[in-house]
Parts: sequence; C-alpha cells; structure tokens
Amino acid sequence: MLYGVFADVHANLEALAAVLDFFTASRVEGHICCGDVVGYGPDPDECVARVRALKKLVIVCGNHDLAAIGRIDIDWFNHYARTAALWTRGALSNESRAYLERLTARCDRKDFTVVHGTPRRPADEYLLSVALFKNNMSRVGAWPLFCGHSHIPTSFHCTAGGKVELIFPEDRQIVTGEIAPYGIVPVAYNPGSVGQPRDHDKRAACALWNSEARTFRVHRLAYDVAVTQGKIRQVGLPEHLALRLACGQ
Ligand SMILES: [Fe+2]
Repeated sequence: MLYGVFADVHANLEALAAVLDFFTASRVEGHICCGDVVGYGPDPDECVARVRALKKLVIVCGNHDLAAIGRIDIDWFNHYARTAALWTRGALSNESRAYLERLTARCDRKDFTVVHGTPRRPADEYLLSVALFKNNMSRVGAWPLFCGHSHIPTSFHCTAGGKVELIFPEDRQIVTGEIAPYGIVPVAYNPGSVGQPRDHDKRAACALWNSEARTFRVHRLAYDVAVTQGKIRQVGLPEHLALRLACGQ
C-alpha cells in the first residue's frame, strides 16, 4: 500500500495544497500525519479542514495542536510560537477545535506506529540522535515508527549487526529491505515539515512510503512562499514567522 506521509503543516495552506496535489498525482491509498497541523501559520482552520477530508488518514496531535486547544502550557514556547498559539485559538472554528480535541498522542497499527515527537514524550522530545532512538525502541509496538516535530527529514535504521544509524536522506530515498531474526528491522522515519522546513530548503517536505516494497522516499515541492508570507503579515502574526519561510529555517 502506498501512503502519503506528512507532518508539521503549521497552518501553511499553500504548502499543504502542493503536498496534497502531489499525493493525489502519486495515487496514494492512505495518509499518515505526524501532527502539528496548526501553529505558526495564517490558515489553521482551512488546513484542519483539508486534513480532515483526507481518506484513510492516520493522524496524531502535535504540541502546537495541543497549544491551540489549551491542552498544554505554552509558557515554555518561544515568543513567536506563543504569540501564534494564542492567535490560532481565536482563528479555529468549533468544528476544527473539536477535531483537534479528538486526536490522540500516538496511533498503533499492526504494521506501523505514529507519534509526533517520540513514543516516550510525544509532545516535546525531538528524535534527532541515535541515543534517543535507542531509548525509545522498547516503546514501539510495530515498526516502522513515523514521527515529526524536528522539521528535518531523517531516518533511523537498525542494521542486521545491531548498529543503529541516523541518516539525513540527501538522496531522498531510503530502502528498508533487511529482515532481522525477530522480524522487521526497527526503523524510524521523519518526512520533514510541510509548512515550515528547518533544513535550509524552503520547499515543502513530505514522503511516500510503500509498505510492501518497504521504501520511504522524501520529496520536496515548491510552492508560492510569498503568498503565505503576505497572509502572515495580513493577520498580524510576527514578521519573523514570514521571513523564516523564505530560507527554510
Ligand atoms: Fe512542528
């Protein structure tokens, strides 16, 4: 089955539209969203509506989704994130708020697991080191694990020799073909961020996962950043949030 995998939309409707058009053109049969549909960006309600409408969607909540519905303390957010979270609370419709309230911190399926940050701390831990991957391995039911939160496309592999490797997918393609004696080799994937990439590439990031071929390919899609920046300014969100989109940070 071919899945469109995405995370960290952050209320960027232009980036989300580019990704969803790509998924449609790629004929995906299911969708996996690793959280943070809202926060930072100017179109939270529209983005929730587009995500809600997706067929065969497995989705978890992110820390910014929780912030938008008042479920986590935003005192530890930086100024920009806190300002955007408070603005987002007023921009969500009742339907969108109710949808976000129904999301869970993790989803366990028979052939994969989804969280936003890590299985240990779904709302706030960044899976960005081999040590963290190892510390979280016992908390994963079915591999692969899909996560977001860092806004950087990454992959963790456990080789047949038991060595864990962290890969930043420069070649955009990762193949997971090994079978360990105990089953599928543990592997974790982050598709990067749709609406606020932080790897110095301003294009929207997403991925295609083929669950039978066991391949995971990261794709980058250009969208009209200036349109999103104009909306950020129009609604009065911090200028920094507009500027960072142009340099992928
Ligand atoms: Fe995020």
